[in-house]
Amino acid sequence: MTGSRTVSKTHQDLVAQAHQILPGGSVGNVYNDTILQRGDKSRVWDVSGNEYIDYVLGSGPMLCGHAHPRVTSAVRAQLEQGTTFFATHELAIELAQQIVDIIPCAEQVRFTSTGSEATLYAMRAARAFRGRDKILKFEGGFHGMNDYALMSTFASGKAELPAAEPDSAGLPGCISGQVLVAPFNDIERATDMVARHHDELAGVIVEPLQRVLQPLPGFLEALRDATQRHDVPLIFDEIVTGFRLAYGGAQEHYGVVPDLCTIGKVVAGGFPLAGIAGRRDLMRSFAPEARADGQFLPQIGTLNGNPIAAAAGLATLEILREPGIYNRLDATGKQLMAGLRSVFDGTGIPAQVIGEPTVFDLFLTDQPITSYRDTLSNNKPLVAQFNQQLLKLGIFRPDSKFYVSIMHTTEDVAATIAAFQTAAQAL
Ligand SMILES: Cc1ncc(COP(=O)(O)O)c(C=O)c1O
Repeated sequence: MTGSRTVSKTHQDLVAQAHQILPGGSVGNVYNDTILQRGDKSRVWDVSGNEYIDYVLGSGPMLCGHAHPRVTSAVRAQLEQGTTFFATHELAIELAQQIVDIIPCAEQVRFTSTGSEATLYAMRAARAFRGRDKILKFEGGFHGMNDYALMSTFASGKAELPAAEPDSAGLPGCISGQVLVAPFNDIERATDMVARHHDELAGVIVEPLQRVLQPLPGFLEALRDATQRHDVPLIFDEIVTGFRLAYGGAQEHYGVVPDLCTIGKVVAGGFPLAGIAGRRDLMRSFAPEARADGQFLPQIGTLNGNPIAAAAGLATLEILREPGIYNRLDATGKQLMAGLRSVFDGTGIPAQVIGEPTVFDLFLTDQPITSYRDTLSNNKPLVAQFNQQLLKLGIFRPDSKFYVSIMHTTEDVAATIAAFQTAAQAL
């Protein structure tokens, strides 16, 4: 590891081949030329054999680290019993039961394969329940790749809210008129938008920790009150925060309970499974009996509730039930955050490290950051340079966010902070 990164001929050939046959040389999630081969605990290796301490963790799912033996053995046991059936499997029922037991708002659960589907169906369930069309979301809030979600996530920050800015080519022109956008952490404006538009709103969707922006005291509570007052379903997108900020997710951590939530990533231990969970009356739309009043919402998916993913999820949740796990995670994350903050002291580069201990990020700016628009002041080219240095030093976090796992050791933390120091000095 550290400082001796090489790129082999095989690696170069794979990059060239990828650029020929994959648009942008990428499978879609990131656009860089690191080609990974394997992972173990807190480490990943690229095809050149370079070893990295991994803070991407598959974009969050690998809270228990890569190839955890208990997850692997649960998956292996199920592999030998068949991999998919298009029927309800006992492991899916077991996983749904655990979700109901763990997540405060969960009375019923529906599974999907991806988080993008989960948010799509959560918003659709809210529309079916309310008989209204519009969704209120927050500027900079990420809810995956469905048409409604792709509004004002990567916004210019210049729009006159609540107008939505489409994030993607190819979206039907009519969708932006169906999405209202509010500023995260602005209690007055957000609650005013709910009050003003409640009669056309199907639901409000929010990441309780928006990317790494912590909710200001009272923000989630005010949103809860405003939506409750007008009977508008509140959806927490917990695809990142679920089982990460606490066993019961952000709703447990921040103490605010929504009507519906979406979960993914950690709950499937690195396999393709996500879900919608929430109040029984809202979840009723997914059951055929809702046909009687025209509220039935078909939700067919070949791999819904897949037994391999369910086995991985159950093993992951069992590991996370071990006493002291969340305290340890918190301590590891806090050391990394403090270390990252401290290496910029005396460099003349204004730096802030914000988020929660198990998912945080670095912003090179002196502007206080509480909203999406504040994040636009980040010196992105300088952060990219920092990330490049880290990669050379054996720290894998090519783009944004640091995810922390239970497998990051004290030695990993020390090596990472040493790399932070070297990388900051090289800027
Ligand atoms: C908050 C949030 N919602 C939804 C999604 C979409 O999930 P998926 O990538 O599984 O479609 C993500 C993915 O990163 C996410 O972070």
